[in-house]
Amino acid sequence: MRLPYYESTIHRQIREKREDRKERIKSDLQEYGKEVLASDEMKQAFDQTHHQWATVGEHTFRVAFSSVMICYALRKMNIKVNIPAVVIGALCHDLGMLGRSDKYSSDKEAVLEHPKESVAVAKEIVDELPEKAEEIIERHMWPLGDSKAPNSIEGAVVSVADKYSAVKDVVRGSEVKKTGVRNYVKGERDRIKKAIQKGIATGGAEKTGKENENEDQKH
Ligand SMILES: [Fe+2]
Ligand SMILES: [Fe+2]
Repeated sequence: MRLPYYESTIHRQIREKREDRKERIKSDLQEYGKEVLASDEMKQAFDQTHHQWATVGEHTFRVAFSSVMICYALRKMNIKVNIPAVVIGALCHDLGMLGRSDKYSSDKEAVLEHPKESVAVAKEIVDELPEKAEEIIERHMWPLGDSKAPNSIEGAVVSVADKYSAVKDVVRGSEVKKTGVRNYVKGERDRIKKAIQKGIATGGAEKTGKENENEDQKH
């Protein structure tokens, strides 16, 4: 049972700001990513494991969520960012990994080739794929493999968010293993999948309610 907790004005304001930001991110994902979210590829993405413990779908959601959050911070510093391109680029960046074992003969080939393949998938899903989104997808692996460095702020944002999310996936996986709470990952997967099926892009892909609770208590 959660202990009674007195929420000070400043804590309430911080919580409300966070909730408001989360809602704004959700609506940006829904608005700019609607073609991707409605695609069969995105549904398929929730059935394929990625980074050991996550799925391609969960990972792309986390990357999109974190990328938009970084964009908000940049806008506060009066740096212009193209959020629609970031959303599309982030949601599509790893879709070239779908069917990975049939498409690629080795992990190395998958790492090297999936960005180009993701661009091809994105072009099939999105009617007019913005040039910037294409660049974001094509260069997201930098500095790994033989990827060229991003040539826009948006590309750099998604590339950084991708590494952050990948590390988080693996670390969280080891926590799951250590504690033996094996249903944790599955529970989150089912929850996000249900949200997608309802057509709701959820920032909850970031964290479970329990985690948010714990994290809020840390601050
Ligand atoms: Fe990737
Ligand atoms: Fe990725």
